[in-house]
Amino acid sequence: MKKILVTGAFGLVGTDLVLALQEKYGKDNVIAAGLTQIPAGFSGISELADVRDKGRIEELLSRYAITEVYHLAGLLSAGGEKNPNLAWDINLNGLKVILDLAVQYKLKVFWPSSIAVFGPTTPKEKTPQHTILEPSTIYGATKVAGELLCQYYNLKYGLDVRSLRYPGLIAYKAEPGDGTTEYAVSIFYNALRNKPFVCFLKKDAVLPMMYIDDAIRGTIALMDADPKKLTVHTSYNFSAISFSPQEIFDEIKKQVPTLKISYQPDERQKTADSWPKIIDDSFARVDWQWQHEYTLEKMVSEMLKQLKRKLS
Ligand code: SER
Repeated sequence: MKKILVTGAFGLVGTDLVLALQEKYGKDNVIAAGLTQIPAGFSGISELADVRDKGRIEELLSRYAITEVYHLAGLLSAGGEKNPNLAWDINLNGLKVILDLAVQYKLKVFWPSSIAVFGPTTPKEKTPQHTILEPSTIYGATKVAGELLCQYYNLKYGLDVRSLRYPGLIAYKAEPGDGTTEYAVSIFYNALRNKPFVCFLKKDAVLPMMYIDDAIRGTIALMDADPKKLTVHTSYNFSAISFSPQEIFDEIKKQVPTLKISYQPDERQKTADSWPKIIDDSFARVDWQWQHEYTLEKMVSEMLKQLKRKLS
């Protein structure tokens, strides 16, 4: 039986992933670990742990006889720029703790990479799987180094570590995090709270995005895939839809006609400028039959419906 540890369990991805894993494998087989506090109302097994603390992580692995780790803990792009040293420390030293223990305890690992591995010199349209990785953010640098570390542990120790380059993820259960694509989450809160939205990106800043249900389904599908079919051991390009702030605003406005937007691009626009617009994820589509379901229209309807329920 699988026993799963999720780090960063209460973040944007973790909140939904833990629920999906609990549903698939049973509540007693999923241990949700966070850094500072367990959200009120969380149901299941939870622990506080710093992923840089090898002793503490090892204690959890052995106490719960863990067989798989979804290692999500990390700083995002905007948070990373505010504290580059902390981003390096958590994103890479935390990953190394998990990888070293995974070799020792023979665990299977999932670790998220990001479109942030790409940079200004990367082709922006149909960005290939194998291309130039020269990111300009510390977050992107940690993701490139992390991808190479994962691949190295696979080559050197035969570790089964799998990874996806997540695009901007749109979710409603957790609050938006400190990223560049997170404007596309915050805008829904303003729409439903009847507040004008001030966007920190330009109106035409197109970025790759995905609805959380697709992201969770894809993550679990990659972890379930036949290892013999996997040809990418850094991190898979993983994509669904691409849109600009103006396009998501227009789509939300069809259902919330009172929503108003203005644009005040800040330093996060520089990060957005360095990232691709449309990703080619054909390796994921061929190797493990990845297919997204949510279009912009379907995602907006679902977000409004679910968030309305959450906020009421
Ligand atoms: N959502 C992330 C960010 O904007 C991208 O990986 O930082």
